[in-house]
Amino acid sequence: MSRIETLLAAMTCEEKIGQLVMATAGYAVTGPVLASDATEGVRAGRIGGMLNLWGAEHAHAIQRMAVEESRLGIPLLLGFDIVHGHRTIFPIPLAEAALFDPVLWERTAREAAVEATRDGLAVTFAPMIDVARDPRWGRIAEGPGEDPWVAARFAEAKVRGFQGSNLAAADSLVATAKHFCAYGAATAGRDYASVDVSERSLHEIYLPPFQAAIAAGCAAIMPAFNDIAGIPMTAHVALLRDWLRGQAGFDGVVISDYNAIAELVPHGVAGDLVEAAALALKAGVDIDMMSNAYSRGLPMALDRGLISIHDIDEAAFRVLTLKQRLGLFDDPYRRGGAGTIDPSAERARRELARDVARRAIVILTNAGVLPLASGAQRIAVVGPLADARADMRGSWSAAGDANDPVTILEGLRAALPHCEIAYARGVDIESEDVSGIGEAIDACRSADVILMCLGEAASMSGEAASRADPVLPGRQRELAEAVLDLGRPVVALLSSGRPLMASWLVERADAVAATWFLGCEAGNAIADVVTGRFDPTGRLPVTWPRDIGQSPIFFAARPSGRPANPADHFTSKYLDMSVEPLFPFGHGLSYTRFALSNLRLSAETFRPGDDIVASVDVVNEGSRLGEETIFLFIRDVVASVARPLLELKGIAKIKLAPGERSAVHLSIPASAFSFLGLDFRPIIEPGRFELSVGTSADRTNLITVSVQATAG
Ligand code: NOJ
Repeated sequence: MSRIETLLAAMTCEEKIGQLVMATAGYAVTGPVLASDATEGVRAGRIGGMLNLWGAEHAHAIQRMAVEESRLGIPLLLGFDIVHGHRTIFPIPLAEAALFDPVLWERTAREAAVEATRDGLAVTFAPMIDVARDPRWGRIAEGPGEDPWVAARFAEAKVRGFQGSNLAAADSLVATAKHFCAYGAATAGRDYASVDVSERSLHEIYLPPFQAAIAAGCAAIMPAFNDIAGIPMTAHVALLRDWLRGQAGFDGVVISDYNAIAELVPHGVAGDLVEAAALALKAGVDIDMMSNAYSRGLPMALDRGLISIHDIDEAAFRVLTLKQRLGLFDDPYRRGGAGTIDPSAERARRELARDVARRAIVILTNAGVLPLASGAQRIAVVGPLADARADMRGSWSAAGDANDPVTILEGLRAALPHCEIAYARGVDIESEDVSGIGEAIDACRSADVILMCLGEAASMSGEAASRADPVLPGRQRELAEAVLDLGRPVVALLSSGRPLMASWLVERADAVAATWFLGCEAGNAIADVVTGRFDPTGRLPVTWPRDIGQSPIFFAARPSGRPANPADHFTSKYLDMSVEPLFPFGHGLSYTRFALSNLRLSAETFRPGDDIVASVDVVNEGSRLGEETIFLFIRDVVASVARPLLELKGIAKIKLAPGERSAVHLSIPASAFSFLGLDFRPIIEPGRFELSVGTSADRTNLITVSVQATAG
């Protein structure tokens, strides 16, 4: 018998259920606060895991309780939401997605794992890999944007980063890919709302990122809060058992979302907690995060014959196996053990935070006002986000100190010591008070250039932060218009967890930048970009609508039988607005200009198993060093199931000096041209494909060639 089987054989039913229970700690300034029933539960073996408890000392204290005071001495699983950094807070995932750089995505996860494990943690509830196409949904901030191919690359990079090469290592964290699945398709962008997506969308859009996470070895999965067409994910046998464990071969642990098992009752699929617990367990949910459904419901579910002890054994086996893989049985104190802190590694982490943050900034428009002219000048900084320290952390601040982030104002002051910088907040983020606008206008009157720091509070995106109308909140528009009316050069910096609806601002300001929530180095990163110390490289990982009425809007739309034609009334368009977004996916300006030409392929035809290499020449036509991101799309022109107008299949980056020309080569396997046919099996249908490259998904600016698939 294996160690786990021996252990399982020695366990009572209550102890087995205990392994499936995850309780939470509260948090006070002094550290974690544990309810007395939680400590009792740990000692009695009724709790197998905890969340929100961190700090080596606290982690070891509770671990000691489990290991030394419970009958079988089974260590606890300690988890936390380390979504974009632990103590060093990196940009929110949507911002990090704008890097289109798997190497850096992996590095930030690795650094987060190093910090989190030092705090005694073993599990993160990340990466969040929900494809999201609706800016109303606040959780769009937490994930990699609209595209499944990008989400898949993001998923594998994050899993590799968090878990490292050996889960038992003292600095490895279990990654929990979430939220499984289609959570981003919440009806009307309202968090926790029902989802109704087709079987095809599930397989083409929402499942591939999870498939990629699993292929990268992801050890845990969290089902989403939502139902899909009436079946809550927490009880979804077809997806959790048949697809996840069966088809995708996932053998790790399924951890419910917070209270989600109990919520099967209000969802309307369980009559009581007992039925809820039975449904979740039967679907393959191993750990009950905070709903008490397993502790209270499973014993009764056994009595009622809704489940068998075998179901409990299976789940407990998986949880214990994960603890073993983490090395917890060998040394429960490995994470958080006294290691020496290397100051140079700490500095490097902080530098990484700055580098990633500046790479995440997307310059949306620039009429030449950026980078700021060098030399002394008078600068006015206005707006409620200029000095919003804690907000810079974004939606998941983990153990990040609210006093730690560098504000935009501080970053600018440090970068521009010779400039006279006047600051006035003007208005608060959300208040109706406009009494500060006059002072802000005074500060701007004699300025050579004005930086307006506008946007949302960090709490306005993330969980339970949907917005029906994601415009600039409060009276910020009034402030901005008064500033713009001065007729001086204005740069608008938008802090937000989503694309904000601000077409009017884009029309009027001389430059607009999406600065998201960039984490602890926000201010320095923004200063690096606006001063031109760093040439901006960020590209939009989501389509930016003109108006929320266009949502959901994304580049991989299917063709209409009546494509939009302004001259033809009966076509797919709006009467009151263009169908084009404000900015396409992939958009983002540099301070230099790149031109692409001469797209060619290694072959004009291919068959299954072949690889094609697409090459394109790129020239830096501007006068500064810069980096461009090249996107490669395909379109299957005629297929048995209509294919999207564009499907992203590859990305390349190239850095060029002024005047320099070089070629980019992208290798595409034939499998990239396959899709799920009428019978949902992958197929490459012979015929013509279009292959396009460009610097965004703007179809009017792509270079396209044809390639022919021949029968295998
Ligand atoms: C609820 C959120 O949906 C999930 O993403 C998170 O991991 C848990 N709460 C735990 O904090």
